[in-house]
Amino acid sequence: MARISFAILAGLGMLQAAAASKPEDSLPSYHYGAPIHVECLDRSSETGEHIADEKDQLQWIPFPACNETGRPLEFGYGHEGELNCTIPFIDDPTYHLLEFYVHNDAPMTCRLPVRPAPQVHVVGQKPYVQEYIPLVFALAGTLQLSHLHIGTHMNVLLHARPKRHIQPKDSGVLDSGVAYSTSPLDPKSSTRLVIGDALPLRLSVRWFPTPALPKTEGLVEWQGMGGHIYASTVFYSLVSFLAGIVASGAYFLGVVLPRRLKGRGLGGATPLGFGVNGVGNGWGYKRMD
Ligand SMILES: *[C@@H]1O[C@H](CO)[C@@H](O)[C@H](O)[C@H]1NC(C)=O
Repeated sequence: MARISFAILAGLGMLQAAAASKPEDSLPSYHYGAPIHVECLDRSSETGEHIADEKDQLQWIPFPACNETGRPLEFGYGHEGELNCTIPFIDDPTYHLLEFYVHNDAPMTCRLPVRPAPQVHVVGQKPYVQEYIPLVFALAGTLQLSHLHIGTHMNVLLHARPKRHIQPKDSGVLDSGVAYSTSPLDPKSSTRLVIGDALPLRLSVRWFPTPALPKTEGLVEWQGMGGHIYASTVFYSLVSFLAGIVASGAYFLGVVLPRRLKGRGLGGATPLGFGVNGVGNGWGYKRMD
């Protein structure tokens, strides 16, 4: 009897060792483009406090449905680009929650599953408990007596856990992320909101293959970004403007000069640097260190 139980124990020990050697390997990861659903903490619109059930468990509810898709907001793993999510009708409770968010009395706390849930369960193994990373939507804006101003353009930065990426559109799991309003004071990227209005969120989503922020030749190039992007952008605008007026004979100004300016590297210190020409390049970012 003793011998049998010893054998069983030894066997279990070996199983455990095998499982412990690479516990992550048996778990699924997101394929490129796989949908990642956004859930948010349910809050009381009276107090802004989170709502818990009778077992003190936090309540997570899907992000409001976007008018564009008819479904709650979701990101595609590794997918970069511009995403529109218009919440078609801001009701009274949601409006009050937005007031809490804009005042930072309560964060707009959402979360993303680190990996897709495993489909298979290994008999005898602990069931998989889904892990999440927080995604706080740092909405910026101003509160007025009769209405709200909300910065509706948001940057969404998502980091994958580092791994050896074999191909540009490789699979992986999530590491961290953040979302924040940009230029909330600019009327072009903000909206005036009263109860019953639509909230048109415009999200610029970028991915990073590691938790680190990208560098150029090992350096973070703030000066490169601030310095010549700014100068050349202004110059480019000026040149385009002049070219518009002097429509004839504008070849040099309108075509040759801007092309030359473009050739002079626009910094490109971060994937956002590439955003000047359209969509960023965080995911396909070549230098990985
Ligand atoms: C929502 O979508 C419907 C159908 O596409 C459209 O008619 C309506 O104007 C949209 N509403 C908002 C607030 O964008």
